[in-house]
Amino acid sequence: MTPVTNSTTPNSGPAAVTFRAPTVNDAPRLWQIARDSRVLDLNSSYSYLLWCRDFRDSSVVAAHGDNIGGFVTGFVRPQDPRTVFVWQVAVDENLRGHGIAASMLNHLLDHLAHQGVTRLETTISPGNTASQALFTSLARTRYTSIARQRLFDPSHFPDQHESEELYTIGDH
Ligand SMILES: CC(C)(COP(=O)(O)OP(=O)(O)OC[C@H]1O[C@@H](n2cnc3c(N)ncnc32)[C@H](O)[C@@H]1OP(=O)(O)O)[C@@H](O)C(=O)NCCC(=O)NCCS
Repeated sequence: MTPVTNSTTPNSGPAAVTFRAPTVNDAPRLWQIARDSRVLDLNSSYSYLLWCRDFRDSSVVAAHGDNIGGFVTGFVRPQDPRTVFVWQVAVDENLRGHGIAASMLNHLLDHLAHQGVTRLETTISPGNTASQALFTSLARTRYTSIARQRLFDPSHFPDQHESEELYTIGDH
């Protein structure tokens, strides 16, 4: 598969932002951004390294100068190669509100369309209104549908984790 290497600039905001597939050297920064978001589940630093090695083709970073300003991690579902599951999206607090998250997701969907991916799944906690707004906007701007259903309730988790609702964008 061809890695996500094309660079594009977002529709608005910092002109120097470009988009590409992550490398393992980016993994520590992804972990930092996830930690600093104070919203995302912070997975082990090792998991971000593995992600940047093995799932780089379905992941994107927003490069801002020498720094990484945001990332999307995802995987194409083994059971359904038409669907990319987006695991985490985050943008550095200083760069938010400039369309960077939307541009990373559009970049990913445009890239994966060449291999037949037509649908995006993600899960969102009921309280994460920013994430709900992001994915609702993505569906609207791509002229496609968005549907929500229950996936994981608190009883599925061994800790105090909130429920996670499944959002599906694209053909159903
Ligand atoms: C959610 C997040 C990734 C958005 O990043 P961003 O680059 O600022 O988002 P964009 O500028 O691309 O915005 C895309 C859309 O989402 C909306 N949006 C983004 N943040 C929002 C917020 N806090 N409240 C309401 N709407 C918001 C924008 O208004 C825009 O919608 P529009 O096209 O209708 O105007 C960022 O706030 C973040 O990193 N949050 C912490 C981590 C997180 O919650 N991740 C999502 C769960 S995996």
